[in-house]
Amino acid sequence: MIESSKQVPGEAATVLSCRGLHRYLGEAEGRVHVLRGISLDIPPGVIYAVAGPSGCGKSTLLYSLGLLDRPDSGRIRVKGMDLAGAADDVRTGIRNESIGFVFQFHFLLPEFSAKENVMLPMYRLGRWTPVEMRRRADALLDQVGLGHKGDRAATHLSGGEQQRVAVARALANDPAIILADEPTGNLDAGNARAVADLLMQLARERSRSVVVVTHNNNIADRCDRRLAMLDGELTGGEE
Ligand SMILES: Nc1ncnc2c1ncn2[C@@H]1O[C@H](COP(=O)(O)OP(=O)(O)OP(=O)(O)O)[C@@H](O)[C@H]1O
Ligand SMILES: [Mg+2]
Repeated sequence: MIESSKQVPGEAATVLSCRGLHRYLGEAEGRVHVLRGISLDIPPGVIYAVAGPSGCGKSTLLYSLGLLDRPDSGRIRVKGMDLAGAADDVRTGIRNESIGFVFQFHFLLPEFSAKENVMLPMYRLGRWTPVEMRRRADALLDQVGLGHKGDRAATHLSGGEQQRVAVARALANDPAIILADEPTGNLDAGNARAVADLLMQLARERSRSVVVVTHNNNIADRCDRRLAMLDGELTGGEE
């Protein structure tokens, strides 16, 4: 059951907030209580790092916050709208407009070019003409240092380059919120640093709110706040 919407003091100034998120996964005796009452207020422009042991629920939390998965109970507000129990089309619309994702594995469409991959979220949003979308994608690829490789198929890019395209794709619709799940977890040290630098720099330039699940200190040290997650609960100091 999803709780009804009530404005809580302090929530109004947040871009993304949640209250009492619970999530169970699996069936019967395999059923796991993965999120155990998570509450969080993320103000505009604030960057959070989340760390915690494997299996503690970090990805599940990001999927809930990113409207990719529904909590079993609790509330999620994006820009003041209550979305945990909202209709699928409402959630999809807000997700396309307001949330950019970077995952550990880039999930680029391999047969599409780098530029087409960056344009995909723009197509889904449907706000720009094809010429505008191409121009935006070119500019984003420039910013991640791949302006000259926009027409190359995603499969013909290196792992580090593919993840830089994924960062550009996350920014395609200029989302207020960026959610990143171990964005450098699959990269060697050099590429991890390059992707971390880009993600942090681009989020800062745009004053975006970010939640990044990471064990990379190069990222975590540059976040405003660090949260620790353990057994489905956030235990870290928020400040
Ligand atoms: N479909 C599912 N059915 C049952 N249990 C699941 C399912 N999906 C995830 N889980 C369990 O939920 C828990 C949290 O998973 P989650 O992927 O959120 O962890 P995580 O903190 O992101 O771990 P990692 O650091 O390894 O990525 C784990 O114990 C996992 O086994
Ligand atoms: Mg995970």
